[in-house]
Amino acid sequence: MDKFIIEGNRNLRGSISVSGSKNAILPVMAACLLSPGKSILRNVPDLIDLKTMAHLLRIIGARVEHFAGTMTIDAKDICFSEAPYELVSKMRASIYVLGPLLARLGEARVSFPGGCAIGTRPVDLHLKAMGELGAEINLEHGYIHATAAKLKGSDIYFEKSSVGATINTMMAAVYAEGTTTLHNAAMEPEVDSTIDFLNKMGARISGKGSTTISITGVEHLFPVEMTMIPDRIEAGTFLIAGAMSRNPVTVRNCAPQHLQVLIEKLRQAGCEFDIGTDSISIQAPQTIKPVDITTLPYPGFPTDLQAQFIALMSLSDGTAFIEDTIFPDRFMHVAELNRLQANIQLDRNIAIVKGVPALSGAEVMATDLRASAALVLAGIAAEGRTTVSRIYHIDRGYDRIETKLNAIGARITRETS
Ligand code: EPZ
Repeated sequence: MDKFIIEGNRNLRGSISVSGSKNAILPVMAACLLSPGKSILRNVPDLIDLKTMAHLLRIIGARVEHFAGTMTIDAKDICFSEAPYELVSKMRASIYVLGPLLARLGEARVSFPGGCAIGTRPVDLHLKAMGELGAEINLEHGYIHATAAKLKGSDIYFEKSSVGATINTMMAAVYAEGTTTLHNAAMEPEVDSTIDFLNKMGARISGKGSTTISITGVEHLFPVEMTMIPDRIEAGTFLIAGAMSRNPVTVRNCAPQHLQVLIEKLRQAGCEFDIGTDSISIQAPQTIKPVDITTLPYPGFPTDLQAQFIALMSLSDGTAFIEDTIFPDRFMHVAELNRLQANIQLDRNIAIVKGVPALSGAEVMATDLRASAALVLAGIAAEGRTTVSRIYHIDRGYDRIETKLNAIGARITRETS
C-alpha cells in the first residue's frame, strides 16, 4: 500500500488549482443511465471513486471512456444487472444507480451499502422515497431488489436533509407519472449541478437552491455535454492549507460562492482574503485564533471539512470546540493527530481542540478520505518527518494531491510498496 513521506515545517506559497467535483460527478455519471446515447462530461479528474463508478456503469452495460479530463458515457445498451457487493462496499455512492435503473428499466438490484469509517451510512431515506414513488422494495441476501412497472409522482417529506436521498429520488422521478415534490430536500451545490444536468437532458425540475424540489415526469431524456463544477471540498482543503502557512496562497478554478461559511470561519481565525470570481487568495495571521464550528447541511459548515479544520485548530492559540452533527462518529483522525502531539479530547460528537505551539512529525495512518487530507496538512506544518500510510483513501477524492501541494512548497514523496 502507498504511503506519503512528508518533510515538515514547510511554508506554502503560490497558486494551486482545483479539479472537478467528485460529489457532483458521481451522481451525474449515474444520471447518464437515464438516456440512450452518449453524454460528455468535462473537467473530470482522475479519482479512484470515479473509476469505481465507471466500472459499475460498465457492468450495467454502458460504455465509459475517460481521457485527459473528459469522460464519455454511452448508455444506449444498458441491461438489467446488479450493483455487486464488492463495488458497493468500496464506494457507497454506488447507490446512485438505484434511481436511474428503476426509472429506465423498472428494476434494480443494489448491494446494501455497509458502513464506513465515518459512520453507519444508512439508506432508509432512499428506500422510503422509492417506495412512495410506487417501487416495490425487497431486501434479500444483502441486496436491495427494487421493481416498478411505472413510478407515480408523489409528495415526499425527508425527515432529515440527505444529499444522496435527494439526488437519487430526483433521478427516479424524472419519468414518473405526474409531479413529484421533495420537501426538506438537500441544497448542496452538487444537488444543483445534478438538477442542471437533468434539465439539460430534458427533465422538468424546479426549485434549485431551495429545500422544495418539483419533478414533472417526461417521456424521453437525451444525452448532453456539460462541464462539471469545481470541487468545493478540495478548494476548502487547500484554503485551510493556506491558513496553516505563513505566506499567501491562491486557490484557483474554484467557486467562492460555495465556500462562504468556511471563509467566514477562517476570517474569525484571523485570516485575510482577496476573492475573485473563480479564485480565493488567503493570508494567514501570525497566530491562528480558536474558532468553534458545528457541521450542518449546506449552506452550513460542511462535515467534509471538519477534519481539515481540526488540523488547523490544533495550532491555534486557544481552545476550539468542533461538533459534527452530520456524522457524529467522524473523528478517526483525532487519535492520529494526537500522535503528532496535537491536544484533542473527544466528548461524544464534539472534539475539544487545545492549540499547541507546534506539531511533531510521526508515523500516522489514514482512515478515510477527509481524515487523510487532515493528516497531510498537519504533516506539512509539523516539525520533522511525517509518514501517512494507507493513502489510497486520499486518492479516492484528490487528484495527485502531492503534485499540487509540492508545486507550492510542500515536500511530499509517494512511496509505493
Ligand atoms: C454525501 O454523502 C457526500 N458523498 C459525503 O461526502 C458528505 O459527507 C455527505 O453528503 C454530507 O454532506 C457524496 O456526495 C458521494 P447524506 P451522503 O445522505 O449523500 C443520514 C466525501 O468525503 N442519512 O447527506 O451519503 C446520514 O447518516 C463524502 O466526499 C440517513 O439517516 O450523505 C447522515 O447523518 C463523505 N438515511 C445524514 O443523513 C439515509 O437514507 C446526511 O447524509 C441517508 C442519509
